[in-house]
Amino acid sequence: MKGVILAGGLGTRLSPLTRVTNKHLLPVYDKPMIYYPIQCLVNAGIEEIMIVTGGNDAGDFLRLLGNGSGFGLQDLHYTYQEGEGGIADALRLAEHFADGGKIVVVLGDNIIENNIRRPVEEFLAQDGGAKCLLKEVTDPERFGVAEVRDGRIVQIEEKPSKPKSNLAVIGVYMFDHQVFEIIHDQKPSARGELEITDVNNAYIKRGQMTYDILDGWWTDAGTFKSLDRAWRLVAQDGANKLDEPDGSKRHVDKGLDDHA
Ligand code: DAU
Repeated sequence: MKGVILAGGLGTRLSPLTRVTNKHLLPVYDKPMIYYPIQCLVNAGIEEIMIVTGGNDAGDFLRLLGNGSGFGLQDLHYTYQEGEGGIADALRLAEHFADGGKIVVVLGDNIIENNIRRPVEEFLAQDGGAKCLLKEVTDPERFGVAEVRDGRIVQIEEKPSKPKSNLAVIGVYMFDHQVFEIIHDQKPSARGELEITDVNNAYIKRGQMTYDILDGWWTDAGTFKSLDRAWRLVAQDGANKLDEPDGSKRHVDKGLDDHA
């Protein structure tokens, strides 16, 4: 399965930090933010990765990441999103790369404590459709929020003022080839974006969405508060831990320190 990292957008919530650089190049403890979603995919066994970026500083991704050899990859694929048309608009650009296969998508500002290999493998074994990952949070109104009934997600609401649960939909999504046809039929939301929540709701309507509850911590890093939280969590615990045969977790960033 191929992986797609969405690292476009303007990061205005982090201005002025993002005035002269892309949000995903900002540091989170000892690494640029974009390292975490790449390592997350690599640890889950994904070997072909495309980064969707945008803005004025797209060339800096190439300077920083090169061909991905620092992550043990053969190469990295890049594409460029014009403007800030939303998460689904950025994902649309990966259609050619996905080439009709299943994909796992990670938002470039999401950082996860543990390995997502198990849900990724479960999705691979699943007969098409989509899968998302949920995490209990104390501030669901900041996220896409899932309403779960009888073990199924019945609806996801984007940043609801009155959330129906405390289950946030985290920025890791798994889709089959239908995702691009769904995006092509989408209309922009009130804020002028193609919303990933609308894509997920289309799969829910088709009865083709499964979910898993994430273990370990998860955070985004797109606001000053969450960037600070991300920094502290990574400094304390490390991110993207690998599973050990004895059930423990080990923090390894394969090869990262060797990357120039
Ligand atoms: O972090 C999880 C949340 O991410 C989900 O719970 C929400 O359902 C989902 O909509 C999203 O919410 P945010 O408001 O945090 O999304 P944000 O606009 O910050 O974008 C997250 C990442 O997506 C960003 O780091 C880069 C990528 N992106 C975003 C936009 C708007 C793009 O690549 N292009 C874009 O145009």
